[in-house]
Amino acid sequence: MNILRFSDLCAQGRARGQRVFIRADLNVPQDDAGNITEDTRVRASVPCIRMALDAGAAVMVTSHLGRPTEGEFKPEDSLAPVAKRLGELLGREVPLKRDWVAGVDVKPGEVVLLENCRVNKGEKKNSPELAQKLAQLCDIYVNDAFGTAHRAEATTYGIAQYAKVACAGPLLAAEIDAITKALAQPKRPLVAIVAGSKVSTKLTILQSLAKNVDQLVVGGGIANTFMLAAGLPIGKSLAEADLLGDAKAVIEAMKARGAAVPIPTDVVVAKTFAADAPATVKAAKDVAPDDMILDIGPETAKQLAQQLKAAGTIVWNGPVGVFEFDAFAHGTETVARAIAQSDAFSIAGGGDTLAAIAKYGIEKDIGYISTGGGAFLEVLEGKQLPAFEILEKRAKG
Ligand code: 3PG
Repeated sequence: MNILRFSDLCAQGRARGQRVFIRADLNVPQDDAGNITEDTRVRASVPCIRMALDAGAAVMVTSHLGRPTEGEFKPEDSLAPVAKRLGELLGREVPLKRDWVAGVDVKPGEVVLLENCRVNKGEKKNSPELAQKLAQLCDIYVNDAFGTAHRAEATTYGIAQYAKVACAGPLLAAEIDAITKALAQPKRPLVAIVAGSKVSTKLTILQSLAKNVDQLVVGGGIANTFMLAAGLPIGKSLAEADLLGDAKAVIEAMKARGAAVPIPTDVVVAKTFAADAPATVKAAKDVAPDDMILDIGPETAKQLAQQLKAAGTIVWNGPVGVFEFDAFAHGTETVARAIAQSDAFSIAGGGDTLAAIAKYGIEKDIGYISTGGGAFLEVLEGKQLPAFEILEKRAKG
């Protein structure tokens, strides 16, 4: 993807003394007391801020937090906990500014955090008036918010139209590079794992990947619908009977390309959905009417592990079983460890997938872990994300 990169501007000395506006995604989960419960996105934003400070820029950083009502600032919408965490990570105080659209006072070598940008009127609808004001705050606009790259808002899109210079920060650039490596120029075989409770929420992803990947591994409730489509019994497992036709079409589209959707040959079942429910391994064809499929079986897991180890590229979104319950975690653990041991370039994303990666401690063995939730899913759907589109347009001049 042809975009201007902030790292190149810094290396050329073009950020020195300049007002740099960084749109980060610092939308982190918090507990009821406002404490950050998971700070990956804050940590992921640090390299760009350091890069700007080291380059001698006057640095402004903003992000949204949650989905506040525009024009109404409430204490729970404040980025204050983020400012504190960012300060700890940067080893310096990070002042938090409110009502900043009309002007920001920041000097070269300083960094300020600008309060929740979604409180500004016109942010969500990408108002041109707001975007033009934002563009005037800076000499260089840096989008480093991959998690919000699927939103065309004033700080993710409009400002990039009007700013003197618009470029991608290191996190956004790394995401672009990893996605390109995995989906546009993959080393084959390309294996995708798409799992989750419902086909309906991931149907467009399955249809899009069916045009590209060599193996499309389905898991969770999605696999149940595909098993049903393949004529297998699934008992009282979660499935969407109205999407059988779509599941069959995906299987056929893959077959027509000489590719495959591996259907489980064995499964782990229980009579109830509970952590202490007795788990039984069964051949897929033997699932009883009162069984609930909660994981893939050991034979299926072994087979998938072999395919993953032989893959050139792996795209992973979703655990293949109820891995939160130990008795039904074997399939997800086997898949996770196979990905970790594979020489393939792997890219993973999505909340549950990240939780599985953390549970098995394999962060370092994954080629790239995406910070995007909805943005990562839209990439898998084959959509062009607005943030990339405008940066490409700006790079063309
Ligand atoms: C996310 O958490 O996925 C991003 O920060 C985007 O948030 P949004 O769905 O509120 O736009």
